Amino acid sequence: MHRPAARTLPLLALAAALVATGAAAPPQAAPAPAKVPVAVGHGGAVASVDADASAAGIAVLRSGGNAVDAAVATAAALGVTEPYSAGIGGGGYFVYYDAKSRRVQTIDGRETAPATATATLFQENGVPIPFAEGQTSGRAVGVPGTPATWQSALDSWGTRPLRTLLKPAEKLARDGFTVDSTFRAQTELNQDRFKDFPATAQLFLPGGALPVVGSTFKNPDLAATYAEIGRKGPAAIYRGPIAEDIVGAVRKPPVNPAATRNVRPGDLTAEDLRTYGTKRQAPTRVSYRGLDVYSMAPSSSGGTTVGEALNILERTDVSKLSETQYLHRFIEASRISFADRGRWVGDPAAESVPTRELLSQRYADTRGCLIDPARALTSPLAPGNPREPVPCGNTGQAAPTTYEGENTTHLTVADRWGNVVSYTLTIESTGGSAITVPGRGFLLNNELTDFSFAPAAPGVPDPNLPGPGKRPRSSMSPTIVLEDGRPVLAVGSPGGATIITTVLQTLLGHLDRGLPLGDAIAAPRASQRNQTTTELEPGLWNSPLRAELEALGQGFRQNPEIGAATGVQRLPDGRWLAAAEPTRRGGGSAMVVHPHGRY
Ligand code: GLY
Repeated sequence: MHRPAARTLPLLALAAALVATGAAAPPQAAPAPAKVPVAVGHGGAVASVDADASAAGIAVLRSGGNAVDAAVATAAALGVTEPYSAGIGGGGYFVYYDAKSRRVQTIDGRETAPATATATLFQENGVPIPFAEGQTSGRAVGVPGTPATWQSALDSWGTRPLRTLLKPAEKLARDGFTVDSTFRAQTELNQDRFKDFPATAQLFLPGGALPVVGSTFKNPDLAATYAEIGRKGPAAIYRGPIAEDIVGAVRKPPVNPAATRNVRPGDLTAEDLRTYGTKRQAPTRVSYRGLDVYSMAPSSSGGTTVGEALNILERTDVSKLSETQYLHRFIEASRISFADRGRWVGDPAAESVPTRELLSQRYADTRGCLIDPARALTSPLAPGNPREPVPCGNTGQAAPTTYEGENTTHLTVADRWGNVVSYTLTIESTGGSAITVPGRGFLLNNELTDFSFAPAAPGVPDPNLPGPGKRPRSSMSPTIVLEDGRPVLAVGSPGGATIITTVLQTLLGHLDRGLPLGDAIAAPRASQRNQTTTELEPGLWNSPLRAELEALGQGFRQNPEIGAATGVQRLPDGRWLAAAEPTRRGGGSAMVVHPHGRY
């Protein structure tokens, strides 16, 4: 998680702290590679939030591995350096373009609820428990999907064994990485929770204190766990001693006896872990301005919601609009597609989800005609009925959008053969459930909080209530865009439900508004999710555009930072461009195998 911006000053701060305490200098991690937000060249590309992780992927590509191999190596490294966002205790969605077959395929590696879960999982005496209490509980922990996702991807499309691809991450965990200000800040955000779990505090609050910026952070337990997965494959997580430790930590959370927090246990069993399987959902696809936009189908709402919004916007030449009208229509298309998401999208294994209809241009046309260029719609907006569309009509009952946290991580990889991976993975909240599996070095997810704790509105069917073995609805939107069957672009982002609007805005910025990919990723963001007000980053909040949009009836509130996208783009001359955030989350890391030229 090394950030170059954090390098000079924090090292001086560390030195000062050491002088002040008279302590001997701790051993330092190998310096992370320099971090740049845009890189161009040949031989393949990797973009992630972290330089160590991108470098792990690039090393795989350089040694002849393909995009799938590199994506697994990058993700494993993120499990070390971004342990509060993703890791083997969580899940995610892997979208893959295969250059040979020119097909896009996906892996749904979402966490699942225990077999005993019911719609009232997060209710007591008929009342939803407070979200914050659900967040830090065994009850929120779903069966992790990430180790199975890695193996499934490699079995189908990879060229290297998992044990080889885990080695760089294992070394990073054993030898350590350099703490930066983002890692420290995320630890600080969690310290009250972490203190209540001795295994978590011991790992992430060494000596009872926050990790010092510039110091080396080691996780030998995670190194040992990766080595065990290397020996036994993901079965090491789903059965045997590590599985028993996971089940133990969920069923009897290892809480400090002095803690006053009510940490509810969960009901996960060894059988739940043993029977976990990833799913191969067909990708979503919409046609947008002659391109094919592929993404993740339910159980994620990413593909259907981004896809419906694109279909709505296709009715207008967005490239010719003023900036105000462009933002107005982007906000309105987001509002409408979120109204439909709330009513219709859940785990298709448990709910009847009209995926095909939500993605149809015909349905989008009946919804898009609600947009008035001169007047904002009001939220909560009622959903339509994709199975029986009514022109310009809301046929359902309006319900508010349920709350979702804003963490997660995304990586994007391309290789020399033209294969592309767009992979979003998570443990849900920053710091997940705060429960570290004792002696194993990783945090457990709290993904089940992505379920609705109660129906979004009385009397309105909610497809996202918990159920046995069910996958909670996600917003992850790992996206790959093709032109004539060949990739032109791949993008994705963290950020809970804001993922959808971030991916949509990045696509529009690049495809319609003429921004280079790096600038589309860096541009200030807005996020409307069928809520009374639209969130704005400071770049838009402080702009004259806000008053112009308010004159159309739009209402706003501030969000300091929305998303942390990464992407890759195939340039017309055959080079790859990798792009990441210049500043959000401390800046991301874009790398190519053979840097060549600028863009
Ligand atoms: N937990 C974030 C998401 O699934 O969208």
